[in-house]
Amino acid sequence: MINLLAMIIAYLLGSIPSGIWIGKLFYGKDIRNYGSGNSGTTNTFRVLGVPAGIAVFIIDTAKGAIPVLLPLVLATSVHPLLFGLVAVLGHTFPIFANFKGGKAVATTAGVGLGIYPVFVLTMAAVFATILFISSMVSLSSMLTVGIAILASLYIGDTIFTGTVVVLFLIIVIRHKSNIKRILDGTESTVPFGLRKDK
Ligand code: G3P
Repeated sequence: MINLLAMIIAYLLGSIPSGIWIGKLFYGKDIRNYGSGNSGTTNTFRVLGVPAGIAVFIIDTAKGAIPVLLPLVLATSVHPLLFGLVAVLGHTFPIFANFKGGKAVATTAGVGLGIYPVFVLTMAAVFATILFISSMVSLSSMLTVGIAILASLYIGDTIFTGTVVVLFLIIVIRHKSNIKRILDGTESTVPFGLRKDK
């Protein structure tokens, strides 16, 4: 019973559509009608600006980190990473937003942060480096999680590596439209980094 309750809490936390709610509450905008149409951190920065972007990033990361810490406060026998996966599914298919959610990047970072914070901070440096070179958040996100699969082998936690593989697949599937734009050469870029064609 407690396991089911914890799963439901993880899903509901993951389901909080921070970008949509912040956009509607504080800016009178439905983020899904602007920019890439995604409700995640990147599009929030793009459409609503830095304060909203930071807020969505913090909330979406917490949505991944808090569920993996649930076993610390609830006597559950379920592996913490399973709660993290459920939270990411909540973020991707949120009950509070007609099951149309984000691309899972920040929430995935939160899952890792709750379990192996130093690993995630290292991956954040990898992300920043790729972003500086490519100027594409989507490409940097996918490559970083792909690299994280290999890097996680160093930790030697098979369940963690398996979870990162599943999260990578979810992230790649959710970036289908970005992949098409990257291949077309029309993907959005950030206004910094080495690329000159911005
Ligand atoms: O966080 C999602 C990011 O990788 C891409 O977002 O809005 O450019 O599709 P967006």
